[in-house]
Amino acid sequence: MSQNAPPRYVHLETFGCQMNEYDSELVRSLLKRDGYEFTEDRERADVILMNTCAIRENAHNKIYFELGELKAIKKQRSLVVGVLGCMAQNLKDELTKSQPLVDILAGPDAYRRLPMLISDALQSQERGLHRKGLAVDLSEYETYDDVLPERNDGVNAWIAVMRGCDNFCSFCVVPYTRGRERSRDPEGIVREAEQIVAQGFKQITLLGQNVNSYRSGNWDFARLITAVADVPGIERVRFTSPHPKDFPPALLEAVADHPHICKHIHLPLQAGSDRILDLMNRTYTAREYRALVDRIRSMRPDIVLTTDIICGFSSETDAEFDETRRLLENLRFHAAYIFKYSERKHTIAARKFPDDVSEATKTERVTQLFDLQRRISLERNREYLGMTVPVLVDGDAKRSSSQAKGKTDGNITVVWDKTELSSAPGALLPLSIYDASASTLYAHRSQ
Ligand code: 5AD
Ligand code: SF4
Repeated sequence: MSQNAPPRYVHLETFGCQMNEYDSELVRSLLKRDGYEFTEDRERADVILMNTCAIRENAHNKIYFELGELKAIKKQRSLVVGVLGCMAQNLKDELTKSQPLVDILAGPDAYRRLPMLISDALQSQERGLHRKGLAVDLSEYETYDDVLPERNDGVNAWIAVMRGCDNFCSFCVVPYTRGRERSRDPEGIVREAEQIVAQGFKQITLLGQNVNSYRSGNWDFARLITAVADVPGIERVRFTSPHPKDFPPALLEAVADHPHICKHIHLPLQAGSDRILDLMNRTYTAREYRALVDRIRSMRPDIVLTTDIICGFSSETDAEFDETRRLLENLRFHAAYIFKYSERKHTIAARKFPDDVSEATKTERVTQLFDLQRRISLERNREYLGMTVPVLVDGDAKRSSSQAKGKTDGNITVVWDKTELSSAPGALLPLSIYDASASTLYAHRSQ
């Protein structure tokens, strides 16, 4: 942007996963470098960017709804609209044809080109032209290693240590929207962790679509997470999302033993039937998954395990669904995210396996698992009653500003009255748990 021009205001909205939140921090950093200002207020913005998700159909629907709203604003005044992220990458043709109001499409590997795309779009609009700016090439190398994200949360800082995914689970669009796996160099990551701690952040979450397949030279994920957790002053280190296939003993030992690595593993199961797991290309059987859970729990009985499940994948029978239900009942996760299968364009499943389980059956299966898991989560959370646990303070609770919230080491939300104990975000408090719901623990000040 030219030095003397008045600042241009960008409004950025983020949808989807933590990697998208992180990418929005990169985008803010890249645009601020170029002189753009950010505003929370849509009305004030010269440019509205949406960082989008493509993982399930309802993620798309949200964006189409937002685009409908922007159409009304754009009728009244000049405005540049950009769609970033996974949906831009995956639906470039459809979005270019069906959404004339979109001026810019930029995929997850193209954010360095955003300043140029935005300035071209602003100029083209001033001249009454409506040229579209497209940047949707995937890269084998882009890791934004040198871009320091513009972080806004004061407690947790994300670091993407790898990008992309080579697993090609047959249902998943990520390998097509985020491209091949590539890892950042470890020295840069550890240096960034040191800076983050010096800025006062208490927790670091290492991110990657397939985070535990991190590899750079002779560094694997176990070595990397240990080096980050060894940074003096760091309180907690988390990671997400891992694949069950990449848990060598050294990683399990690091999680079990390192005092600063949180005792929580999110371990996506997806299904309990071996035939469905094979169709999904998950590369493990239910028995192997269960053996991994047993190994983890034998090393660390207090660990919190959470999972993802997909219901109604192509050709899943009632009996196969029942295998998933029984495994979920048996493994007693602290929490599970349960999804209806949503066919995604370009995926192996979309090409090879018909989406033939009816919507009604998917709904019925999701509801069954949801009810089952809610009961288990409640039982699990009630195990904390009477215990005193360290809680890292996040800030105000969602429901009321007279309550504060924080997280246990195992990532369970804890809520307490500020009259009991008021504390600044980032403080680590011992709290005594007196009540539990399926999603939340309730605490008093510990005596
Ligand atoms: N349909 C439903 N759920 C999906 N997930 C990924 N792709 C799909 C899809 N096509 C779920 C998986 C994954 C989580 C992030 O989202 O359970 O672990
Ligand atoms: Fe998708 Fe599977 Fe890669 Fe996870 S591991 S991002 S589910 S392809």
